[in-house]
Amino acid sequence: MPHRPYIVGNWKMNGSRAMLAEARAIDRAAARLTDVQVALAPPFPLIAALREAVTAMGVGGQDCHQQPKGAHTGDVSAPMLADAGADFVIVGHSERRADHGETDALVRAKAEAALASGLAVIVCVGETLAQRDAAQAEVVVAAQLDGSLPQGESAVAALPGKIAVAYEPVWAIGTGRVAAVEDVVIMHRAVRARLVAAYGEAGELVRILYGGSVNAGNAADLLAAVGVGGALVGGASLSADLFLPIVAAAASATEA
Ligand code: 13P
Repeated sequence: MPHRPYIVGNWKMNGSRAMLAEARAIDRAAARLTDVQVALAPPFPLIAALREAVTAMGVGGQDCHQQPKGAHTGDVSAPMLADAGADFVIVGHSERRADHGETDALVRAKAEAALASGLAVIVCVGETLAQRDAAQAEVVVAAQLDGSLPQGESAVAALPGKIAVAYEPVWAIGTGRVAAVEDVVIMHRAVRARLVAAYGEAGELVRILYGGSVNAGNAADLLAAVGVGGALVGGASLSADLFLPIVAAAASATEA
């Protein structure tokens, strides 16, 4: 694994102030395991409290609006996330694409807004089961990347450290069904090619995370796979006991 691995927990619409104890335990491990970059993305109402509760880990949002402010009831902007103490934001998660009809163009606008606010971004892509079964997975993911990756001066200035891509096959999210390591390797190679097409040499250094039913049992194999720069973890990020073995697996992968 050539870069410092990045292990990000996405709490989705889960969590409460009581769960800050889990975050503190994760943070203590993050402080020890400095070879791994660790972060959590809680729901919006917990961002400021999480920022106060931790010192070593990153704190992020799960989405942002593409505009900095205005008449958009219920939405949260990238400058607001930064003001609450977030360092990064996830954009284009398949649950946002499905539940809120987010298009590639919208995801790109959100990513660009985030970078303009000084946040790092994790741009999510991934195919459905029907698309994989139709042998369209690489084509779908390539098109998502070509349409969603941030462009322009703020993107170039953010490279490579502030842009990451998460490959999350939709059929592997929350299903307990994890992608085969060889398929992950093939897809991460394809993602890399799109990153280089978009950003030239700097695209070589952008981290590509795998997401979809990552847990203590499969993390070591996935994180050791060629081209995998980390993991975006849903269910197993909700407790320190489930999440920390994944962080430890990333630390071991750096030693291998
Ligand atoms: P699970 O780890 O629960 O499958 O979720 C993955 C995910 O969607 C992370 O963003």
